[in-house]
Amino acid sequence: MAILTVPDQGRRLDDPREIAAYLKPYGITYERWTADGRVDPDASPEAVLAAYAPEVERLQRAGGYRTADVMQVRPDTPGLEAMLAKFNKEHTHSEDEVRFVVKGRGVFHIRPETGPVFALEMDAGDLINVPAGTRHWFDLCGDRTIRAIRLFQDAVGWTPYYVKDGVHDRYTPVCWGPAFLPGVGPRRGPQAAPPGSSPPPTAP
Ligand SMILES: [Fe+2]
Repeated sequence: MAILTVPDQGRRLDDPREIAAYLKPYGITYERWTADGRVDPDASPEAVLAAYAPEVERLQRAGGYRTADVMQVRPDTPGLEAMLAKFNKEHTHSEDEVRFVVKGRGVFHIRPETGPVFALEMDAGDLINVPAGTRHWFDLCGDRTIRAIRLFQDAVGWTPYYVKDGVHDRYTPVCWGPAFLPGVGPRRGPQAAPPGSSPPPTAP
């Protein structure tokens, strides 16, 4: 179940309907999909996509998403740190970032044009659609594990464009989930990659 926090206001929401209502004015979609008993979260990507086909196809029709895949990272994923470093700095994309969590946890920070920065911690059963151009960044939780369905309008265009003077260093990623897992440790330094310089990423 997702948890939304607004650090600068000391505010916390954990009711899915309240979270969806909070996100809607920012154009962000949040949904809960039934995950329990649906499919083994460690099943093959094909089996996972087949299990969630009704919801995935609904989103594809509504949003023009042409492809879907299943990404996975674990603590022993080769190159994990370098991969995460691409996404834990404030950035935007030229297309929507659509993620449905099959297993594990992670935290999106969103910096809307109007309104305070907020964090959305997600776990299995949570779907988020962050519209193109929305400033955001992503961190794993302490278990450093997440498996998620991704939808793409054009995967080639899914590159992080780093925000000048991003504020990600001001917000420590904290996961409030069942185990109260700590975030990924001390906030990283201010070194941000140059805008648009990274190759198309494969995860998260
Ligand atoms: Fe992103």
